[in-house]
Parts: sequence; structure tokens; C-alpha cells
Amino acid sequence: MAIRTIRLKGDDILTKKAKKIEVVDEKIKTLANDMLETMYSNDGIGLAACQVGMLKAMIVYDVKWIEDTDSKGRKIKPKKEPHILINPIITYKSKSMVEVEEGCLSFPNEFDNVYRHEKIKVEYTDINGNKKVKSVSGMESVVIQHETDHLEGIVFLDRVKENKNIK
Ligand code: NI
Repeated sequence: MAIRTIRLKGDDILTKKAKKIEVVDEKIKTLANDMLETMYSNDGIGLAACQVGMLKAMIVYDVKWIEDTDSKGRKIKPKKEPHILINPIITYKSKSMVEVEEGCLSFPNEFDNVYRHEKIKVEYTDINGNKKVKSVSGMESVVIQHETDHLEGIVFLDRVKENKNIK
């Protein structure tokens, strides 16, 4: 596994649409593992392939893995629970929304509030090439919406702007 360079604000690739992955081959598996390692090494909870320079429809995330502090003030890291979603499509979005402060590894030190659907259903292909579907809520729902936006060339700051236009 290797840590890849994260593309930052101003990089054109962050505004482009990802291409569907037709075959889950060794290259895709390597990319998925590299994306996870890159995410973990940067203390992130989600990453889309375009953020490491690949216009492929794949996202990774881990909402369980958040640095925490124990009673003696030591940093602890709960068990990793990595997820890899290939060609994710959100097929259901709840009407109820949540407002969450988001950040993005491509926009270090920028944080702002975004409205997201509280619950979603997502269809995807797993790392073994099997079609899957899952219903999620809470942080997992928020992260999947943030990362699938990246596959459309949309970043969270675009959503912040949208919110301001609604208000
Ligand atoms: Ni992001």
C-alpha cells in the first residue's frame, strides 16, 4: 500500500465527473487500499478517488475511526472499520435534513455547515465485484453524500453556497 498525494483546492480535477468502473481488477483494488491508507494517514474519515488524481467512481470512508482521548489524556484510536464503495448511486434521500459542520482533505483548514439528508439508501459494487445496497443514517449518511458529490465534481463549499442562496 502507498500513500498518494492529495489534490488540493484549485486543482481542476476536483471539478470533474468521475468515470464508472467497469471491472474491479487489481489496479482498482490497489487504488482502494491506497485511498484508505492516504485517508488514515491524513486523519480523514472519507476520500474520493479524484482527490488522489483518479477520475474513477470510487469512495472510501471510515466513520468509526476518529481520534479520541482516554481518561489519562492519551490519544486512542478506535478499531478501524473501512468501507469501499464502487460506482455508488444514492437511490433514496429522506426529506428530513441535518446540518453538519464539514471539512475536506482537499480544503485543509476550511470548515463550514452543510445541509445533508438524514437518511439515504446507496447502491454500489463492493471490492469483490458484488452489487450491494445499504440504508444508512447519521455520520455515515453525511460522509457518503459528501464523497459521492466529489464523483460529480461537487465539493462541500459548493453546497455551502447553495445553502446561502436558499436563505
Ligand atoms: Ni471531500
